[in-house]
Amino acid sequence: MRRGILTIAAVGLLATSGLAACGEESGGEGGTEAKPKIGVILPDSASSDRWETADRKYLEAAFQAAGVDSIIQNAQNDKAQFQTIADQMMTQGVTVLMIVNLDSGTGKAVLDKAKTQGVLTIDYDRLTLGGSAEYYVSFDNEAVGRLQGEGLVKCLTDKGAQKPVVAELNGSETDNNATLFKNGYDSVLKPKYDSGEYVKGPDQWVPGWDNTQAGTIFEQMMTQQNGKIDGVLAANDGLGNAVISILKKNKLNGKVPVTGQDATLQGLQNILAGDQCMTVYKAIKQEADAAAELAIALAKGEKKEAPTTVKDPEGNRDVPAVLLEPKAIYKENVKDVVADGFISKDELCTGAFAAACTEAGVS
Ligand code: BGC
Repeated sequence: MRRGILTIAAVGLLATSGLAACGEESGGEGGTEAKPKIGVILPDSASSDRWETADRKYLEAAFQAAGVDSIIQNAQNDKAQFQTIADQMMTQGVTVLMIVNLDSGTGKAVLDKAKTQGVLTIDYDRLTLGGSAEYYVSFDNEAVGRLQGEGLVKCLTDKGAQKPVVAELNGSETDNNATLFKNGYDSVLKPKYDSGEYVKGPDQWVPGWDNTQAGTIFEQMMTQQNGKIDGVLAANDGLGNAVISILKKNKLNGKVPVTGQDATLQGLQNILAGDQCMTVYKAIKQEADAAAELAIALAKGEKKEAPTTVKDPEGNRDVPAVLLEPKAIYKENVKDVVADGFISKDELCTGAFAAACTEAGVS
């Protein structure tokens, strides 16, 4: 049987520090006891490609490599379904539950119920405010937002924009990450609005990060502004693509810089085409590996010390956390995402993008 703790140098998880609440699997060689079982609930498959194409794949691989049983399900943006899945997983005997909440309220209900059943929990990517997870594993999400804000500034500067009107399309208001992203980019943009260097345009949340609604919202913004929008802070690649579709209808794509996040295939292709200014690459393999390492330890009755903590302002507690570093991606360094193995050259550099790939040095 393959056992042992995965080590993640980049994350620097600290040494094992004794046993936690959960009963330890004796796990003797050739033993017949049930293997530890970990449940993961992903949020949806439409707000970003990442959940199904990256997170699921990397989490599965990490559990498999450790020889630990796991169940990974997707709530498809349905809060009732989210709770049902959690209940089913607990009936199926998971001892550790990892969630990406759809909002803090329903997330908290799931975490608290798990606790009463002795199931240990991890907040994966999104912090559940007022929640009770043992750990939070994510990226430095304010840093993500700062990279987006700085990215938009760089692209507007490159275009020589004067007093540009900036529109903001934020993520879901019920996703704590969306708030952190906004704090990050507003920390860059607000001083420019205040000084008059930039003009603050429309600023809206997109419910559930819904890409279709984002298109409708952006079209209304354009109407309201008589087409005078010079730059768009879109909080992820899906929202960015919705904006780009509307800009295309108005023959403004490539003229109005748009940001993104997640380094999705579509986002990277939009960058290669010159329609998107930048994206933020989050190495999801590192995130999945770090979360899996903690989950596996919990499932085996061990408790690892996390490298840092984050404050949960609602629950007023310091949650042990792993926060990874995001990276800004422009046309010049799209190749880094390919080199990191997140996206393959074959997927990215199809027909229409082959020449741009060569130009951008993607190999
Ligand atoms: C994640 C982003 C993702 C968004 C929509 C956020 O919580 O951090 O990576 O694009 O949700 O799914």
